[in-house]
Amino acid sequence: MKVDVLLGLQWGDEGKGKVVDVLTPRYDVVARFQGGPNAGHTLEFEGQKYVLRSIPSGIFQGDKVNIIGNGVVLDPALFKAEAEALEASGHPLKERLHISKKAHLIMPTHRVLDAAYEAAKGDAKVGTTGKGIGPTYTDKISRNGIRVGDILGDFDAIYAKAKARHEEILKSMNFEYDITEIEKEWMAGIEYLRQFPLVDSEHEINDLLKAEKSVLCEGAQGTMLDIDFGSYPFVTSSNTVCAGACSGLGVAPNKIGNVYGIMKAYCTRVGSGPFPTELFDETGDKLCTLGHEFGSVTGRKRRCGWIDLVALKYSIMINGVTHLIMMKSDVLDTFETIKACVAYRINGVETENFPYSIEGEVEPIYAELPGWQCDMTKMTSENEFPEEFNNYISFLEEELEVPIKIVSVGPDRDQTIERYND
Ligand code: GDP
Ligand code: IMO
Ligand code: MG
Repeated sequence: MKVDVLLGLQWGDEGKGKVVDVLTPRYDVVARFQGGPNAGHTLEFEGQKYVLRSIPSGIFQGDKVNIIGNGVVLDPALFKAEAEALEASGHPLKERLHISKKAHLIMPTHRVLDAAYEAAKGDAKVGTTGKGIGPTYTDKISRNGIRVGDILGDFDAIYAKAKARHEEILKSMNFEYDITEIEKEWMAGIEYLRQFPLVDSEHEINDLLKAEKSVLCEGAQGTMLDIDFGSYPFVTSSNTVCAGACSGLGVAPNKIGNVYGIMKAYCTRVGSGPFPTELFDETGDKLCTLGHEFGSVTGRKRRCGWIDLVALKYSIMINGVTHLIMMKSDVLDTFETIKACVAYRINGVETENFPYSIEGEVEPIYAELPGWQCDMTKMTSENEFPEEFNNYISFLEEELEVPIKIVSVGPDRDQTIERYND
């Protein structure tokens, strides 16, 4: 058996949480492979809305096993708050949420370091979520990190040593902070973590595959935020791309099956960094208002613009996307004309290839298509699609050379239309 991977193709917030929830009944297991509480994955069903940060989005569908993989960075305090809220709302998870012992722990001082590094960057700040993601992955790579498995040993000494290192750095930066309260919550989070199955998830997943069980790997963030292929340095600190599922779960490359790439019918970005199709006019405001484009973790207003096919083709290439999923189609319901960026003009030269850098003068070249100007939110089958919407889909499929399997027409689980089965 192979795993399927579902990941974002833009700058995050494409709607991964919603689709993972919709697809979960087809799988035995859902596994998160990277990122941490910088993610905010929203699900809506039966009139309820949930935002998941570290817990995989398969947690609401029956008794499926959900795994937090080794590539994830986990903040025990935030994890405890998230898990307790779910349990309180009638979704028990203790036995069926497995956590890799190799996942790295986000410490209170990592959060402080995140703030300190951002402050030191001044105008060049990344606009991080402030959750300590960068400093935690930095410690992982520099071999100074602490891991979930460490809580099973002499944890106090390991923690004290790592904290002392951070304190030295913060002192040298003259950065003032007080972690007394969050440290208490954090320690309570460590105790709470002990109640969950702490596992060797690479063994668990490969044993499941051998036993013909099906696994869906859930990505966080999006390809344009990938540490290697995103708009560096305005990126997150992990590999958000398909290869991240291999390293973040211990799944071999030849065990990757379908790759579901998710995109919005337009494009958004939150935080700093270049965004070639960003709109600064009333069309951008309209996308923001109709799409409720405010961050699910930080509440920050998301920057909005037209769909960018140059960036999407790049993302599809890097990830080996086999199926596309288009979200938030309904947000375009009232637009008379829809634009799609088909090329960039850089220093007077047109290109369809995603360049080394998209900072500076990148002029998007647009194709224009007629809008459908009707309400799609209650549609339940492809047969109801207006002609203009079908044209938009055909245009995108032709440009991107990958079929659009699923179309989403609203935030609810039920507002999802599957165009074909394979
Ligand atoms: P994720 O991080 O990729 O899981 O996406 P987020 O949850 O951060 O952002 C997606 C937002 O769009 C959430 O508020 C969803 O409830 C909402 N959403 C998802 N699909 C649709 C859709 O098809 N139409 C509309 N209007 N909203 C959607
Ligand atoms: P989901 O999984 C959108 C952005 C931040 C910032 C940059 C680095 O919900 O799609 P970090 O805290 O990771 O060091 O911030 O990445 N970012 C996201 N943007 N969706 C996300 O996650 C994001 N996670 C991080 O805004 O620009
Ligand atoms: Mg999100």
